[in-house]
Amino acid sequence: MIFASASGFRAEEIAVTSSVFICGGLKVEEFNGRVGVVTGGASGIGLGMCRAFAKRGMKVVVADLNEETINAAVEELTNGGAEAIGHVCDVSSHEAVQGLADAAVSAFGGVNVFCANAGVGIPTSARKMKLADWKWIIDVDLWGPIYGVDVFLPLIEAQGEGHINATSSMAGLISSQMMGAYNVAKHGVVALMAATERELRAKKSPITASVLCPGPINTNISRNSVSYRPGQSKPRADGESAGKLANNIQATLEQGMHPDEVGELVADAIATDKFWILTHPYWAKAIQKQLDALREDQSLTRA
Ligand SMILES: NC(=O)c1ccc[n+]([C@@H]2O[C@H](COP(=O)([O-])OP(=O)(O)OC[C@H]3O[C@@H](n4cnc5c(N)ncnc54)[C@H](O)[C@@H]3O)[C@@H](O)[C@H]2O)c1
Repeated sequence: MIFASASGFRAEEIAVTSSVFICGGLKVEEFNGRVGVVTGGASGIGLGMCRAFAKRGMKVVVADLNEETINAAVEELTNGGAEAIGHVCDVSSHEAVQGLADAAVSAFGGVNVFCANAGVGIPTSARKMKLADWKWIIDVDLWGPIYGVDVFLPLIEAQGEGHINATSSMAGLISSQMMGAYNVAKHGVVALMAATERELRAKKSPITASVLCPGPINTNISRNSVSYRPGQSKPRADGESAGKLANNIQATLEQGMHPDEVGELVADAIATDKFWILTHPYWAKAIQKQLDALREDQSLTRA
């Protein structure tokens, strides 16, 4: 697709001019006036990203499922002086993600930063998880970012500058028990973004990519996920233990980092060309432990 960019270039001109963007991504001073699109942007970490982008003078598109929460987020951002619009988008539909891109281009002329952040998760054993839950979680948490890269990366490339990010988790780096489909999807998101970033560097693209791997963040993900879950039925045979685990997870999240801090980390990472965005880098010791065991006796650590 060809459209006029925020900087006034057309796509065919960018091919010639892109070599001036030596380091890629967006530098701190370049956020102002650029366009950011965030899925799952009406709540939690996504809203934190929208706030961080708006604070830096970006035009923001808040994409989420629920019109009421989207409107509340847009109202807050515009009251704070930002240009923002909302768009209802179910990220598990390619057509809906394409519709989101069309809305962003029609409102603001292009997209410079895209964050595939929408996500859901329920604790369930990999063995006993219902296939309907597997499908729902993989559709939202993995196909959502895949559709995001498919639709938004060409748009950002047409701008000749910008950044694409997706939200994984520490569950994308280490697979704990009782998080079956979530682990699978979040590992996929890490692989998707690492491959994308390597391919961008190989072709000396001015665009950069990153992956956000949060530890515990104080959001409503547990409650939101329960309310969006298709059928809302209990997991097959481990309802009680999964229920206890869900309560424990919720209690841990409530002690977690504020989502606005995560939004700031993402904006800083975009400005400083960081690929890995870890909210709790200390937790990387669990990954180191697994790597050590892999080398020493090829055993699986008990995470
Ligand atoms: N909270 C944490 O501790 C934590 C830790 C690691 C990773 N994450 C990841 O961070 C991301 C944001 O989660 P959060 O914690 O801010 O939770 P949240 O529930 O506050 O935000 C997630 C948003 O995604 C939206 N959403 C859900 N399904 C959707 C769909 N099909 N299409 C579009 N939007 C949809 C929800 O409506 C919600 O607004 C998720 O990908 C989650 O897996 C969160």
